[in-house]
Amino acid sequence: MSDSKALDINEISTHIWPKNATRNSEGILEVAGLDVIELEQKFETPLFILDEEDAILRAKRYVKSFSKETHKNLTKPTKIYYASKAFSAVGFLKLIIKEGLGVDVATEGELRVALKAGCKSSDIIFHGNNKAFNELEFAMDENVGLFVVDSYLEIARLSQIAKSKNKKANVLVRVTAGIEAHTHEFVATAHEDQKFGFSLAAGDADEAVRRVIKEENLNFVGLHSHIGSQIFDNKGFEIAAQRLAQLAGRIYQDHKVEIEMLNLGGGMGIAYINSDKPLEIEHMAKELVQIVFNNFSNNGLKMPQLAFEPGRAIVGPAMITLYKVGTIKEIALESGEKRTYVAVDGGMSDNIRTALYGANYTTALVSRLSIKPTMLSRIVGKHCESGDIVVKDCYLPNDLAPGDLIAVAATGAYNRSMSSQYNLVLRPAVVGIYKGEVKEIIRRETFKDLFATDPLM
Ligand SMILES: Cc1ncc(COP(=O)(O)O)c(C=O)c1O
Repeated sequence: MSDSKALDINEISTHIWPKNATRNSEGILEVAGLDVIELEQKFETPLFILDEEDAILRAKRYVKSFSKETHKNLTKPTKIYYASKAFSAVGFLKLIIKEGLGVDVATEGELRVALKAGCKSSDIIFHGNNKAFNELEFAMDENVGLFVVDSYLEIARLSQIAKSKNKKANVLVRVTAGIEAHTHEFVATAHEDQKFGFSLAAGDADEAVRRVIKEENLNFVGLHSHIGSQIFDNKGFEIAAQRLAQLAGRIYQDHKVEIEMLNLGGGMGIAYINSDKPLEIEHMAKELVQIVFNNFSNNGLKMPQLAFEPGRAIVGPAMITLYKVGTIKEIALESGEKRTYVAVDGGMSDNIRTALYGANYTTALVSRLSIKPTMLSRIVGKHCESGDIVVKDCYLPNDLAPGDLIAVAATGAYNRSMSSQYNLVLRPAVVGIYKGEVKEIIRRETFKDLFATDPLM
């Protein structure tokens, strides 16, 4: 259950909403100086609205928090790779790259967008548990900076491709450290049963490193671990750093090779609802750098270069989704209470996270202010699935009417990027606003786009 009742339902708090989102004197929501009614008229709904400055400031804070200048224990600049799976578009990546971030890609598609946005290939890290042969070839041709290997087959495949091109691929070995972090909970287990990485407990991580080191066309750079998502404290990262430092110690003993880079992945949490309390990145960085330093020096090793891959924490809070209310239905619950189903013009095609993960969101009526009593509501979409829910439980004013605009906050990460055309709907536009200037980062699809791949349409 969302805790949005705890908030004044008209409140646009920067804890959840973008930095430059505020109600104007008429009660209409504005993002970076433009009101949502004008935006709806120009770009239609559903519409993703990005507060560019918010995302830029988040990127800046990551770079600064982990910089060499901020930490005396660091000898090399920390690499921050933006995890572009969260949201990828040329117009957005350009903003992020300008702040000095590299880009984490997981497919050739994401790689092409990063290159088009002007990311130096040396600042790109290529992930994925099943990179295709041709994807690896393309990435080698483009001289991608780092490959994160995820299976023995891939080590052999990458080595073969590098050899055929007379090149050397820089490699991180992805380690499954036996930690699953999610929100405040994390589980440290001995055995791992999931598709990513090489198991530390089973000895696969040690073996993978051995194989990478022995390949002439692979350059072993270091270790990678990604422990989960929506992480609100450093405990899981601490255990991962501890286990990876021990592995680095064994690598040194066995091969006389010190790791150059330790990449602890992404997963830093954001506030979707009022009770979500993410750590300030400055605080998180201060602790993490010290944790890695202590663990590496305890194992007699030099401090490696650090790398992180935040996705959600850069773009998630900077974007909102704007919907138009279509139909409203009141349903009597067994408890005697009533729930109002508010159907909007999007749904699981632009936000699958509620159906997929039971995600919670904060929402508000944004085309006007209402001081009417609230009603228990569920925001649903227009798709032919009863699980097509955008916000499961929330409170909206009881004078809500068709044509009203509502917005859902913190939809920048894994919403547009996971969107679909289910029921043959047109995927929404993404607009970016900076100081009152709006531009289309992704334009709204047309029926021509939608039917382009059906030769009989
Ligand atoms: C390897 C890796 N790095 C980074 C990320 C980004 O995670 P987040 O967006 O939660 O920061 C993911 C997300 O799945 C991932 O798998």
